[in-house]
Amino acid sequence: MSILIKGARVIDPANKIDGLRDILIEGEKISQVAKNIKAHAESIIDAAGKIVSPGIIDMHVHLRQPGREDKETVATATSAAAKGGVATVLAMPNTNPAMDCPESIELLKGIIAKDARINVLICGTITKGRLGQELSDILALKKSGAYAISDDGCSVDNDELMLGAFKKAKQSGLLAICHSEDKILSGRGVVNLGFNSTRLGLRGIPKESEYRRVERDIELAEKAQAPVHIAHVSCRESVEIIATAKKKGIKVTCETAPHYFSLTEDALLGYDTNMKMNPPLRSKSDLAAIKEGLKDGTIDVIASDHAPHTENEKDIEFERAEFGVIGLETELAASITELVYSKILDWRQLVECLAVNPARILGIDKGTLSEGKTADIVVISPEEEWQVTKGGLISKSKNCAFIGRTLKGAVDYTICNGKIVYKR
Ligand code: DOR
Ligand code: ZN
Repeated sequence: MSILIKGARVIDPANKIDGLRDILIEGEKISQVAKNIKAHAESIIDAAGKIVSPGIIDMHVHLRQPGREDKETVATATSAAAKGGVATVLAMPNTNPAMDCPESIELLKGIIAKDARINVLICGTITKGRLGQELSDILALKKSGAYAISDDGCSVDNDELMLGAFKKAKQSGLLAICHSEDKILSGRGVVNLGFNSTRLGLRGIPKESEYRRVERDIELAEKAQAPVHIAHVSCRESVEIIATAKKKGIKVTCETAPHYFSLTEDALLGYDTNMKMNPPLRSKSDLAAIKEGLKDGTIDVIASDHAPHTENEKDIEFERAEFGVIGLETELAASITELVYSKILDWRQLVECLAVNPARILGIDKGTLSEGKTADIVVISPEEEWQVTKGGLISKSKNCAFIGRTLKGAVDYTICNGKIVYKR
């Protein structure tokens, strides 16, 4: 199979390219990137007026398989990902069984080999059963093919245990990803603690529950001399703590999700459970800090934290509804709309947050359009506006915070391993 993409504005930060190019794909690989390629190809994509970048690498995705196939499966999530321009995902380990041993990882690998439409990397757990009591055999997780470890959904409360995890992660060459949350401080909160939580009559989650744990996780990682990645940063203080740590030379990276730079706690005034996630939507000042953090590079990555839940789990009283929103189909357009068109990031910086930096942090040979590399590519119509509707979503669950919003920037094609896996 060969594909020729013609006349696109190619954005490939790794090769310092932002200009008109053609791209020739032969088999799984990019064979040529140049102006006016004269080659025969089985499939030609006229990409005049389009933007072409490395496929998105989304390092925070809940596939829900094995165990909760009623919410999402590898097949449905990776189809949704392809539609969103995503070519690689890191699958979070809070499945049933949890990804805490080689047997579970082998089970998921089998499903991926059969059903995945894009690249799926597996994240193992830090502790057995994600219970925060006993470390998983981290070296064994690495040997069975895990790319990172995390107890996402939970933080490891015990300092000694977490320090041990960082040391083992470093020895094994695995990235530790922290869901930084002190659940004692979060209590039974369901929204950000503040004026709105009082007005709504809902229990609040203080920002301290996030940023104090961010501080601790960075301290322990520094002690262990291990790299640490902080997941779903949502508040100003976390951004400031991470910025200070980076200035000190500590090996910390972090991500945020589109809802944290697009929406504030004001979106909760209608008690819409599609606005309920953990960490919660914060204040206007926090949203501004997230945007500043993206702009100045404190925040390295945009990831969806795609967290599908069934209608039964969402269309109920606010306090009982599950935490989490889906995001694979909207993350690129939401980022273009909120960051590029509002001049927070330029296209190069956006591609860095969505592809270049996640590849670097995960240590995978992706995120570029270099000749000879695997062809993971997204073709984007930058000016195209579209409305997010429940009916238009192909994810098995529809708990999306952007329903009803008009977003700018549409995916025309997603190419993964040299194959067109989505065409609009
Ligand atoms: O909102 C969330 N949903 N936050 C998490 O940390 C976990 C996730 C889930 O698995 O549903
Ligand atoms: Zn989490």
